[in-house]
Amino acid sequence: MSEEQHSPVGIDGQFVAPEIDPTKPSIARVYDYVIGGKQHFAIDREVSKALYAAVPEIGQLGRCGRITLLRSVRWLVSEAGIDQIVDLGSGLPTEGNVHEIALEHNPDCHVVYVDNDPIVLAHARALLAEHENVTVIRADIRDVDGLFSDPELLRLIDPDRPFAVIASSILHHLDDDEANATAAALREKLSPGSYLMSANFLDDDEPRAKELERAFLEGGLGTGRFRTWDELAAFLDGLELVEPGLVYANDWRPDEHTPRDSPVQTLFATAIGRKPA
Ligand SMILES: C[S@@+](CC[C@H](N)C(=O)[O-])C[C@H]1O[C@@H](n2cnc3c(N)ncnc32)[C@H](O)[C@@H]1O
Repeated sequence: MSEEQHSPVGIDGQFVAPEIDPTKPSIARVYDYVIGGKQHFAIDREVSKALYAAVPEIGQLGRCGRITLLRSVRWLVSEAGIDQIVDLGSGLPTEGNVHEIALEHNPDCHVVYVDNDPIVLAHARALLAEHENVTVIRADIRDVDGLFSDPELLRLIDPDRPFAVIASSILHHLDDDEANATAAALREKLSPGSYLMSANFLDDDEPRAKELERAFLEGGLGTGRFRTWDELAAFLDGLELVEPGLVYANDWRPDEHTPRDSPVQTLFATAIGRKPA
């Protein structure tokens, strides 16, 4: 490993963390780049070119995912009465974060962010320093048992009470076996009345889904799968789907910020499932 790779690296002049390798692309930074954020390196912008070549509206796809996440959190806290949230693959802090929406609707809400990318941890820790009911854990979400026995998670989440697990734009970064096993393990952890939100790339039988999947898998990132309606439905097996069910993300309880004629409408789907009492 070169000396440069051992050195603390900066993004926009900020100290980040010594373990971050600026020569390797990261999902968190590429996502940040396509949704218009500022935390990315040249390598992230380079691998993004293949994504833009496949679907030039990739930025709209990323933002569709982001606003779907925030709309879902608002519903979970303000309509479903959820006051504990575990956000898996939380990504880099951006405009409108899960804890900000949650605390706006319930100042006593507890939020645990989980991500395996050190850059997310570095930025989130700085952002969250003043919130005692919000924390961030570095963990691999594929180890659901390990995650749900982590003392830092258990400090803020009482798994015997209803809570919400957010899996927004994360299961499509796992391969089929891993995604199915992770979703099943998560459903198993839910106490009665708890929720699982699952938002993912959709293969609605159109060529763009295949092209974009190829760009993700072969363009330097190595993950990013587009799944059929049936495959996405299986993630929520045995849960009661909240209305309107598993739908194009922009059709899930749209509000004034939701695009109504998006060119990426058919590339992303979402649902929230509830563990029966
Ligand atoms: C596309 S971003 C999604 C961010 C956010 N959930 C959203 O919907 O806006 C995916 C995030 O998942 C994280 N991630 C990918 N694989 C992971 C894993 N196995 N365990 C934990 N985090 C993971 C990445 O580091 C990245 O921050």
